[in-house]
Amino acid sequence: MAMFEMRAIGSVSSPYTETAQIPKGCGAAHQAEGVLELLPEFEQGLKDIEGFSHLFVIWVFHQAQGYALLGQPPTDDRPHGVFATRSPYRPSPIGLTVVELLRREGPRLYVRGVDMLDGTPILDIKPYLSSVPPEKLRRGWLAEAEERKRRSQP
Ligand SMILES: C[S@@+](CC[C@H](N)C(=O)[O-])C[C@H]1O[C@@H](n2cnc3c(N)ncnc32)[C@H](O)[C@@H]1O
Repeated sequence: MAMFEMRAIGSVSSPYTETAQIPKGCGAAHQAEGVLELLPEFEQGLKDIEGFSHLFVIWVFHQAQGYALLGQPPTDDRPHGVFATRSPYRPSPIGLTVVELLRREGPRLYVRGVDMLDGTPILDIKPYLSSVPPEKLRRGWLAEAEERKRRSQP
């Protein structure tokens, strides 16, 4: 099996110190502000990032141990395959979060929308550019779970 060595380019300052504090489930809104702090040797790589409103942050679920190929997400009462979910318990424990860029101060990016723990290692940052028209997006089991929940509410 191929293995790849990655390096952390920085870490996240987040208001969340425990996973239980992070909003979960249907309709969870991620409005928390945080800071993506790059190591000084990578600061030059942020040149021109200010022009982008949103960023992809690629990071490591560094506090998650092991993986499960099937799991029941907080958004549903049925199990789904790990690759059809955003579970932290993945064979390659990589997290992906879209954040809004508020401002940059040197090697620090102030962002809104963090859903990771304080101290989470960052592997990469890329500009968020979506070319998928909304009418082409399908939300799979999540849309069905949301619909079941909506129907069960009085
Ligand atoms: C459902 S995952 C989604 C993360 C990301 N948006 C994604 O799609 O890859 C978010 C959850 O991961 C867990 N989590 C966040 N940071 C973590 C870390 N550094 N190590 C392990 N688990 C973490 C928390 O339970 C949080 O609610």
